[in-house]
Amino acid sequence: MSTRRSARHLALGLTCATLIWAPASAQDQVRVASPDGRNEVTVETRGGRLVYSLERDGRAVLLPSRLGFEFRNARRLRDGLRVVDTARQTVDETWTQVWGEVARVRDHHNELRVEVAETASPGRHFAVVFRVFDDGVGFRYELPEQPGLGDFEITEELTEFALAHDGRAWWIPANRPNRYEYLYSASPVSRLDTVHTPLTIEAWDGLHIVLHEANLVDYAAINIVGAGDRKLRATLAPWADGTMVRGRTPFVTPWRTIQVADRAADLAPSVLGLNLNPPNVLADTDWIRPTKYVGIWWGMHIRTMTWSSGPEHGATTENTKRYIDFAAANGFDGVLVEGWNRGWDGNWIVNGDVFSFTAPYPDYDLQALAAYAREQGVRLIGHNETSMGVANYERQLEDAFALYESLGMNAVKTGYVGDRTREGHAHHGQYMVRHWRRVIETAARHGIMLDAHEPIKDTGERRTYPNMMTREGARGQEFNAWAADGGNPPEHETILFFTRMLSGPLDFTPGVFDILIESTTGSPRPPEQPRLRTTLAKQLALYVVLYSPMHMAADLPENYEGQPAFQFIRDVAVDWEDTRVLDGKIGDYVVVARQERGGQDWYVGAITDEEARTLEISLSFLNPDQRYVAEVYEDGSDAHWLHNPLAIEISQRPVDATSRLTLPLAPGGGQAIRIRPTN
Ligand code: NOJ
Ligand code: CA
Repeated sequence: MSTRRSARHLALGLTCATLIWAPASAQDQVRVASPDGRNEVTVETRGGRLVYSLERDGRAVLLPSRLGFEFRNARRLRDGLRVVDTARQTVDETWTQVWGEVARVRDHHNELRVEVAETASPGRHFAVVFRVFDDGVGFRYELPEQPGLGDFEITEELTEFALAHDGRAWWIPANRPNRYEYLYSASPVSRLDTVHTPLTIEAWDGLHIVLHEANLVDYAAINIVGAGDRKLRATLAPWADGTMVRGRTPFVTPWRTIQVADRAADLAPSVLGLNLNPPNVLADTDWIRPTKYVGIWWGMHIRTMTWSSGPEHGATTENTKRYIDFAAANGFDGVLVEGWNRGWDGNWIVNGDVFSFTAPYPDYDLQALAAYAREQGVRLIGHNETSMGVANYERQLEDAFALYESLGMNAVKTGYVGDRTREGHAHHGQYMVRHWRRVIETAARHGIMLDAHEPIKDTGERRTYPNMMTREGARGQEFNAWAADGGNPPEHETILFFTRMLSGPLDFTPGVFDILIESTTGSPRPPEQPRLRTTLAKQLALYVVLYSPMHMAADLPENYEGQPAFQFIRDVAVDWEDTRVLDGKIGDYVVVARQERGGQDWYVGAITDEEARTLEISLSFLNPDQRYVAEVYEDGSDAHWLHNPLAIEISQRPVDATSRLTLPLAPGGGQAIRIRPTN
């Protein structure tokens, strides 16, 4: 095994791989620590049950927490267990991302594989593999092929996370119709009901803990359930008949991940989940390019255009040409067009069976527009809203992607508005997870990059399939156009950064300049109506703070006309060599610096909640031998998200690695800075 792994590592050109196998033993308590020795997992049997616990610096993080499964028509796999074998290895290798928040990622961990068997007949056996990193732990179950365990149906996974300390959890509810599109709440762990991952917890002792999963391929997504104390447990999203997972041995589950950090700012960029996914399988990745895009989109959300056919139809040939021209003139790569295809008439939210993914509306000349875009050096981005009519989509998937490929369209935005599939399968259940893989693989075969809305949450697929670019899976900008509660509150993105963003890229669609949404009526919307609850400078800062390899300039092109602040959106990079979180507190503020991939420019984004604050940052991350100019886009002195959101000041100043900058942020405000070398 070790030779085989080494050979694979060499074949992948990995820089350094050390593999040590320890002889098997059958102790009843085994331990494995992270390379820096700070995180230590103990695995043992107690009263015949297999449990694991986690300590950091010798202090308990997780108390003994149970492992196991419940099956349909088979005894649960939990009791009467004994350890029959253990194996260890150490890996230290650094790999390069096709794109990402950082170019290179170090995977340095100690692995412990613990195999257990039932003492009673038929003596079913399974293994739990722990990988302990300096930034956390991943573990997964392996169910080997065996006479007593062939085909199975899991009705519950018994994994627990028994927190040693209570803490403040930042959560969104699970099993609700709007999937991941909720505002985060903060409450003690002991009050949690059923919530989504990533679940970020600030423990009372100051430690930050994030529960999530990695490499979800053919299983159901996990949610976390509270029990009124500090003991959290996993639960899975079901098939229509209530089964959680169908499988056949040999079988491995996704990794359950526990990220740990001493302070909030150390949580990001999070690479634990990426390290637990298999390496890239695409031979050629040259066609995969992070992009900025514009699109026929915001108009539908603020109701000046429609997806459906009729006099306000947004996706007309003429209108699309206007967007293509705008993209070409301003250096955007992509033009998203929603509402181009048949099926939007009537109530599209429930009519998922009638969408065509190849037939355009008569006023949309797909072939001509794709050609026109190509001539301008721009690409059309396809749009496939399924409304959870997943079978309808799967029937057309191959033909649709082949069509887009033939037209030179290299990106598709998908959508899954709806709670369950037409057949009643949960949005994040195994049926949908399988569908998800199928779409990613089909897209890869056709040279298509994906941006998914209402997605399955990110579990690091982008490492294996780097065409899986970005996704929503959060309350995005669109809520500011129509949410019944008036839109996202000023603190929203300061929470997203430390929660949702820890799973991966977020297609939030920033950059709306018409903060008051005057373009609908010609006058500002009254404050109780949906509108943006940020300043203009904060809209710019979101391009840096919220990571996405596909970022949209979401507003109508006319709203960027004559706006000097638009220059920042034109300039900002979407692929990064390095990322540094300079400071931050969940729900209050965050300031991030990122270095352009393959370039010398740095970008800084700072955002605050409803409180004004002044942040001090050091530019010591800059190259000490280089002089730079900082192009600063800051809140005007009297800016305020509510009363004066548009006040912005743009200035330039010389800086270098010894500089310190003072960043005054208005209530609901932000600051965006481009730092470029001077020649
Ligand atoms: C919801 C998506 O989040 C949004 O971006 C899209 O415009 C609509 N669905 C229609 O597909
Ligand atoms: Ca959405």
